[in-house]
Amino acid sequence: MTNVSRRALLAGSAAVGVLALTGVRVSRAGELVVKFSHVVSPKGHPKGEAAQLFADCVGESLKGRVKVEVYPNSQLYNDNKVLEAMLLGDVQFAAPSLSKFERFTKKFRIFDLPFLFKDEEAVLCFMRSKTGRELLHAMDDKGLLGLGYWMNGMKQMSANRPLLEPEDAKGLKFRIQQSDVLAAQFEALGAVPQKMAFSEVYGALQQGVVDGQENTYTNIYTKKFYEVQDGLTETNHGVIAYLVVTNRDWWEGLPEDVRAGLRACMDKATAYANGKASELNQQAKRKLIEAGVTIRTLTPEQRRRWVEAMKPVWAKFEADIGKEVIAAALAANEGKCD
Ligand code: LMR
Repeated sequence: MTNVSRRALLAGSAAVGVLALTGVRVSRAGELVVKFSHVVSPKGHPKGEAAQLFADCVGESLKGRVKVEVYPNSQLYNDNKVLEAMLLGDVQFAAPSLSKFERFTKKFRIFDLPFLFKDEEAVLCFMRSKTGRELLHAMDDKGLLGLGYWMNGMKQMSANRPLLEPEDAKGLKFRIQQSDVLAAQFEALGAVPQKMAFSEVYGALQQGVVDGQENTYTNIYTKKFYEVQDGLTETNHGVIAYLVVTNRDWWEGLPEDVRAGLRACMDKATAYANGKASELNQQAKRKLIEAGVTIRTLTPEQRRRWVEAMKPVWAKFEADIGKEVIAAALAANEGKCD
């Protein structure tokens, strides 16, 4: 549809200007067709399931007015491209991991500090806190608005050999997300980090381009990384969680009732993702065990050595993140979420 016909269709709508500026399609019947792009499996994964729930909810509550098309499995964009596409108006919703916003803000580096959050509950508590809520606006001036956090889970580590001591990782190449904190984390182990899109990880592990990786049980299971690794180690050393983002100008230019309807569905999807993440990761862990994958656990002594090896990373990024933000995250470990 051309911009001219799109304008004609929208004539009379308060949203004409903003919608015409973006790549939002409008169907013959005048329905807005918007895209939600993500990189994970649509099933068995908190993000995949929550994105679909959001689309279904919008399909019901804004029937005939807005339709959300969900593109899972990096079908439309990988996370390195999706934010630029969003600023150009080619996609309206995405939920990249918080490790993938470095070009826009350094504030989310808090989520990558190794061994900072003690468990998923602490991460959720931090997200609910005043500091966490303020971070949703960290990129307002860049045109990206955070609509909510979605949890995945704690990261586990794997390689083409067993990892029990930090020295076991030495000299190995690890795939990482686009984050300098994660690069520093592997450098602290004497390993070699390699930034790579999620969609390329399986092939890179299989072909020996990299030796190892870190991810949640849901990602490791649904993307089959375990097939090309020597078991996993339950390190729980970090977290993968998401920021659901949209183009701020587009969002603010929507008719108020449409925005309210989208917001209500987003809140529903957020509650679903955050309520279901832990269960889905436990389910993926069980399926890995059923598939015969060895999951190694660390003794308290081994764990202490991993913490010792990685902890110096904090000091390198403290200035970017802010002492008060780190303090709020540590308070969340104590259950203080305000
Ligand atoms: C990764 O790149 O490993 C993750 O961010 C993928 C995801 O969206 O969970």
